[in-house]
Amino acid sequence: MLSWFTKNEVNEEIYSQDKNVKCQIILDSGRISYAVYKNEKLVIKPSSLGFLIYGEKPLGENLKLIRSQRKKHQEIVELPWGENKYIDNNYVESAYYFAEKKYPNRIFTLRVRVFNNAVAFRYEIPPQPKFSQITIKDELTEFNIPLNTVAWKIPAYQPDRYEYNYEKSTVYDIKKSVHTPLTLKTPNGVYVAIHEAALYNYGAMTLKLNEKNILKSDITPLSDNTKAHIQLPFQTPWRLIMLADSAIELTTNQVMYVLNDPPAQDFSWVKTLKFIGIWWAMYVGEWTWAPGDRHGATTEHAKEYIDAAVRLGVSGVLIEGWNDGWEGDWLDNGINNKFTVATPDFDLEEVARYAKIRDIEIVGHHETVGFIDNYEKQIEQAYNYYAAKNVHYIKSGYASSKMLINGRREYHHSQFGVNHYQRTIELAAKKHICLDIHEPIKGTGIERTWPNLLTREGARGQEYEGGALSPSHACYLPYTRLLAGGMDYTSGIFDIENSVKRLATTLARQLAYFVTIYSGMQMAADRPFIYEKRFPDVFRFIADVPTSFSKTIPLAGEVGEYYIVARQDRDSNDWYIGGITDEFSRRINLHLDFLSEGTYEADIYSDSDEAHYRDNPFGILITKKRVERTNTLDLYIAPGGGFAIKLKKL
Ligand code: NOJ
Ligand code: CA
Repeated sequence: MLSWFTKNEVNEEIYSQDKNVKCQIILDSGRISYAVYKNEKLVIKPSSLGFLIYGEKPLGENLKLIRSQRKKHQEIVELPWGENKYIDNNYVESAYYFAEKKYPNRIFTLRVRVFNNAVAFRYEIPPQPKFSQITIKDELTEFNIPLNTVAWKIPAYQPDRYEYNYEKSTVYDIKKSVHTPLTLKTPNGVYVAIHEAALYNYGAMTLKLNEKNILKSDITPLSDNTKAHIQLPFQTPWRLIMLADSAIELTTNQVMYVLNDPPAQDFSWVKTLKFIGIWWAMYVGEWTWAPGDRHGATTEHAKEYIDAAVRLGVSGVLIEGWNDGWEGDWLDNGINNKFTVATPDFDLEEVARYAKIRDIEIVGHHETVGFIDNYEKQIEQAYNYYAAKNVHYIKSGYASSKMLINGRREYHHSQFGVNHYQRTIELAAKKHICLDIHEPIKGTGIERTWPNLLTREGARGQEYEGGALSPSHACYLPYTRLLAGGMDYTSGIFDIENSVKRLATTLARQLAYFVTIYSGMQMAADRPFIYEKRFPDVFRFIADVPTSFSKTIPLAGEVGEYYIVARQDRDSNDWYIGGITDEFSRRINLHLDFLSEGTYEADIYSDSDEAHYRDNPFGILITKKRVERTNTLDLYIAPGGGFAIKLKKL
């Protein structure tokens, strides 16, 4: 029914509170589009919106505006752990209620939020007569950005999920789907990252050029070739466009978190964790996951690692390969994994008892190898089994090209996968278990609602060392993958010249990772004897560095080249600084003006003048100095190197 406030044409501008970001909403000839400006520079040209739905007319045509509503929101959000304790949630929101002018007269809402550093919007579809259960054929959201925009991309739909090296190209080259966050630099110099927030019950958004050569959402399909089966009411994840004037400023963007709901329950029991683990010994071939002469997960080894954790001053021990099912090539045999049955040489009860006496947290392990039916059958008992033994942390894994469920093969980042991971997170929350998910779906800020999801992998980590990682990789992460949240990079490997896994790093750089790559669960990934026997004075930094910060200040960097960041400890006035570079050395003049008044004692771990990731990785200088906020530090970073600094307030 037409009413007097119905509009057939709209051309509205929504400005951010500081007026630097503008989103334009256009309704013309029954179709809606949006455009984005930063400092009045056009970033995203008018881009269409809408859906194709099976058995229905496309949604997004013949529209009229029934009503719109605008509001201003100002809030400071507190996060229980992470890179910052407080983040701003300041935006101007417009909600547009659209209806089709013709039969079937469906309605939906487009909700738009304009932040000082981002634009976000989502579709909200209420239930309506004969329109309640729908199957999405395609989401038509476009991001019409110039084709000569620089793009730093990793491919989607590949067997190794998100574990690829970043490649610098242009939007013109995005002929095949790429993952988000997709980081871009427009010809007029604006840094942009396209991503999504609050991904629930829907396929993850990838991006590729459509037939009109416009970048468009490509929702990860299910095995039945549809994009998502949904029950109305439904709201899509937020489509998020982060904006900045420099690469380093882009890394401060935390809008993704405030687009998520507040915590779903009481999470006061959640604690971030630093841990070592029965792990790298398997990668360098000393131990095995499977039982046998060199089995890693024995009761004896676990107790040794618990003792080492106490001596090293870390709070947790991960144990991989303790359960039945790792025999043979475990990548093929995941169907056999039994998550409540230990191998004969491993006594979880005894290990847990010992850990409790020594005040060490056990990090349990569930490698599903993507056999989801096998896992889902056992998951409830498996979580109960751990919870009963005081195990409150689980590292889970999905090392397979796709997930297997009832004979179907589904992408990890499909609607099916998204829902599976969510089930594990919610079940873990019920049992007071924290998760570190490997081979996960990408982060979309749901850690705000589910803070027991302490970290995830979701990018190439140090397990790819030994040939498949170059020093530039970790210099891409802060500008790309880490915009999606923390990552378990498995930092702190000191045995750099190991003949099985030779790392492309210097020693000081391994410390820098504990600051440059945030993770709510931070692994010191090497074997403890390497730390204790060879580098006890270097390990000091890892023992000191916190896993939760009150404030993060990115200081300098460029995508894929270098990155320097300072973070203040959550529980003290101490600061930590980390810096890394690609294969080129750098001299840095570090201003300490972010510190407060007073004197600090600086412990500096930096590359020596002769250090080099290729032929002199152990060249490290450890120095102590007193500094104040008026001082600058002159630092050298070797090729493939890095530095780490602890600033203790005196
Ligand atoms: C791949 C994970 O990334 C790694 O950390 C783990 O050790 C193996 N899968 C086995 O679960
Ligand atoms: Ca992995």
